[in-house]
Amino acid sequence: MASRSFTALPEPFVILTPRLVVIPTPIAVHVTSYRTLYAELYANAGFCRMGFGERFLVRNWNDDETRDMIETRDIQRSWEKRSLGDFAVGLRPQPKSGSSGADPQQDPFPSVSMLAGDELKEFMGPDLTRLEEIQWVGYSGIRDATITSLPAREEGDAPYPDWLEMVEIRYGVSPAFWGKSIAQEASDAVMQWAIREKGVKRFIAATERDNQRSGRLLQKLGFVHSGTNYWKEPLELEWEMRRGRILGKVTFVLKVVNSISHSVGNALVPQYPVKHSAVKVVSDVASGAGLISLLFFSSTVQSEFGALGAGSMSATNTLGFGAIVTVILVPLKLVLSGWHFYELTLDGAGDTRSAAILSEVSNLTSYASRNSYAVSVNDEDPDTLLVAVAVKAACEDASSGLQVVETCVGFA
Ligand SMILES: CC(C)(COP(=O)(O)OP(=O)(O)OC[C@H]1O[C@@H](n2cnc3c(N)ncnc32)[C@H](O)[C@@H]1OP(=O)(O)O)[C@@H](O)C(=O)NCCC(=O)NCCS
Repeated sequence: MASRSFTALPEPFVILTPRLVVIPTPIAVHVTSYRTLYAELYANAGFCRMGFGERFLVRNWNDDETRDMIETRDIQRSWEKRSLGDFAVGLRPQPKSGSSGADPQQDPFPSVSMLAGDELKEFMGPDLTRLEEIQWVGYSGIRDATITSLPAREEGDAPYPDWLEMVEIRYGVSPAFWGKSIAQEASDAVMQWAIREKGVKRFIAATERDNQRSGRLLQKLGFVHSGTNYWKEPLELEWEMRRGRILGKVTFVLKVVNSISHSVGNALVPQYPVKHSAVKVVSDVASGAGLISLLFFSSTVQSEFGALGAGSMSATNTLGFGAIVTVILVPLKLVLSGWHFYELTLDGAGDTRSAAILSEVSNLTSYASRNSYAVSVNDEDPDTLLVAVAVKAACEDASSGLQVVETCVGFA
């Protein structure tokens, strides 16, 4: 590849995001301008104190020492052992306006993409000359924490989960570029790559307790406080993000939109509620409890609890736990729906009754959706997970469609 071989990277690639180039260090270690940036970060007292705590001493490495550090601490320990590790992060070269008559606004890589093979060769230039010209701004990496940063297990410690659930994320950005969400954009791309290409199931992280900037960044990436104590560092906070949490964010938004449209629909059409007063009370309590548990255990709300310092309230996989709590209510709700159907049979036909029947059928599809949701956030197998997500989407579509029909019938 461009007169170089990257032994720790059998199939060289780079990741492009809308603003950034994200390059595995087995390639970037050969780029002098990146090594210079890396050495500058570790020689910066403010950067090191923020990232690694008061006890960390700044390093003043020359170029050979920097290369050596990257070789031994990242390439040999991570890339060669697990085929993942740090990535150099630089600003994407802007297309030169008017150079070839092409539209300078036209972006050949509008979203996250990967380059390999001939495209990569061209991107890097002969002997990596084009990489030398990139403005490097930081790094973002993932590593198997069990063989890199974690202390040895002691007697009485529970064994670590599988390493694919112990993938630590780390990042650092040159202070001149803080506040532009660069670490977020780069880390998001690296994590997506790790999920897709390496099957990573859970990311973990540790931050200094007073590193609120890094904590906020982790929350933006979907992390919550884990309550674990893997690193046994009292001055640090531990975090985690499970693969399912990305799904959880989408689900949270859908759930809120769904609840609002349901309430609006109910307000618009005449209601035919359960008549039996005791059954009605149980029905109201069950609906409230289901909604509260779904929202409370959502990744979005859990992130806020993490922000308030109540992370120890979280179960290890809050999303999965919350989904199961909701599913536990389903048998009760089935009984309540059955009772409502029974009451509806006692009355004469009419549009209000038809709307109520449609509403209950819509409820039945939403119970099926909840079961699929619980499977999707707890399932580790990507194939069956896809089936659960598809069933959930179909049920939600059916439920929403029935609610629209219910509203139309109620108005008729
Ligand atoms: C941590 C680091 C990568 C963050 O970079 P960044 O470019 O500022 O990150 P982002 O812009 O994506 O996000 C920072 C967030 O923190 C918020 N923030 C800034 N200062 C904050 C503070 N004192 N308290 C809480 N949040 C703060 C920002 O407002 C932003 O959130 P927003 O997008 O919701 O407004 C960077 O500061 C850094 O390299 N620090 C030194 C190394 C380090 O700490 N590494 C992490 C080791 S765990």
